[in-house]
Amino acid sequence: MTDSPKTFRVKSFGCQMNAYDGERMAELLGAQGLTPVADNEDADLVVLNTCHIREKAAEKAYSDIGRLKREDGSRPMIALAGCVAQAEGAEAKARSQMIDIVVGPQAYHRLPEMVADVSAGKRPVDTDMPALSKFGALPARRKVGASAFLTVQEGCDKFCTYCVVPYTRGAEISRPFADIETEARSLVEGGAREITLLGQNVNAWEGTCGGLDGLIRAIARIDGLERIRYTTSHPADMSDALIAAHGEVEKLMPYLHLPVQSGSDRILKAMNRSHSAESYLRTIEKVRAARPDIAISGDFIVGFPGESEEDFTQTLSIIDAVGYASAYSFKYSARPGTPAAVMGDQISREIMEERLAKLQERIIKHQLAFNRSKVGIDTQIMIDRKGRAAGQMVGKSPWLQSVHVETDAPIGAMLDVTLTSAGPNSLGGALRTAPALSSVEGVAA
Ligand code: 5AD
Ligand code: SF4
Repeated sequence: MTDSPKTFRVKSFGCQMNAYDGERMAELLGAQGLTPVADNEDADLVVLNTCHIREKAAEKAYSDIGRLKREDGSRPMIALAGCVAQAEGAEAKARSQMIDIVVGPQAYHRLPEMVADVSAGKRPVDTDMPALSKFGALPARRKVGASAFLTVQEGCDKFCTYCVVPYTRGAEISRPFADIETEARSLVEGGAREITLLGQNVNAWEGTCGGLDGLIRAIARIDGLERIRYTTSHPADMSDALIAAHGEVEKLMPYLHLPVQSGSDRILKAMNRSHSAESYLRTIEKVRAARPDIAISGDFIVGFPGESEEDFTQTLSIIDAVGYASAYSFKYSARPGTPAAVMGDQISREIMEERLAKLQERIIKHQLAFNRSKVGIDTQIMIDRKGRAAGQMVGKSPWLQSVHVETDAPIGAMLDVTLTSAGPNSLGGALRTAPALSSVEGVAA
């Protein structure tokens, strides 16, 4: 028998969908009367909400568990949640005796029962994937920050040959429109002014209001909501209707994260990406025709099995052709159970590192050019954190750039600024007018 926990900490790794799940687990535990704490040392229960996408992320889960042992030999109750839990199931308990609970991303609504099981001496595992049932079992959203995540779609049917997501998150499934609308309204009532719609393939969402474009148009009607974003999209699901929404829905921010992974058709085929470099570029052209100022962001993998110098050069070319405003880039990581892990011609770590450095240098060049192109523009930023210097705050532009301004406005405030300077990673701005008090009312930090 173990005492039931009174305090908890949820720590999330990986993607924004994991961040959303982490928030919901914290709300659930809070609704059970447990108190959130900031340090592992003070927590009776620690939930590690893990990521399995690359080997490094997955291994981190176990090194973090080891660190939960305290100087006096005691430790908190430990729940392994998220994608490592889903991928490893009961095996995780054999790998680390410190794990009390293993709970997958579709089963975490059962966390309170599982905690009670541990108190009764068990080590429960739940990696079932009952489609969407967690959402109905979670408490309603209450007080949230000015910028909130809302998961609308989960899972993936695309089966890119390098990727674990179809195995850890299951088949593509869309949450019903009515549920999403209710959650969006309660987020806005709870203080959100920006909502980011999330899904592993968010642009594959479908419901009674049509595709993702219909959902965006419906959510845009909510008074008090000022900004809408969505991520992550697959190029194959970038419909004309969604592209049109970028030109027509004012609240939809001019930013699109559209992973390409490689600029070589040979590699894209081996990755099972279902788009070519050419078809991707055509999509970008259409998006820019609808919304000329849009910031395009992407994901890249270097060193996929069989990637030649020529393939890599084509990746650099597509970066130049698109002119990315930002991008995430990764060394290929072989994931057990995926088709690419057993492909011949795996690329050496040295070559991957060399290519990654070259790719990042190229991205930074475009990022700086994009940031500089905005200098002199009057726009609005939403404050999301304190700056390093005293009296400085940092906010997000519509293009998702970080903008530093001298102000004492609180987190969540929307400020009118002129963009005055640009570096590769952020911009400087100057306030145009003092913030009206009404614009910061009801905003949670
Ligand atoms: N190795 C390296 N990067 C990967 N990604 C997905 N799987 C792997 C892998 N096995 C990257 C892709 C994806 C992003 C979320 O992570 O670029 O878009
Ligand atoms: Fe990581 Fe993918 Fe799971 Fe997100 S869905 S936490 S990126 S493995």
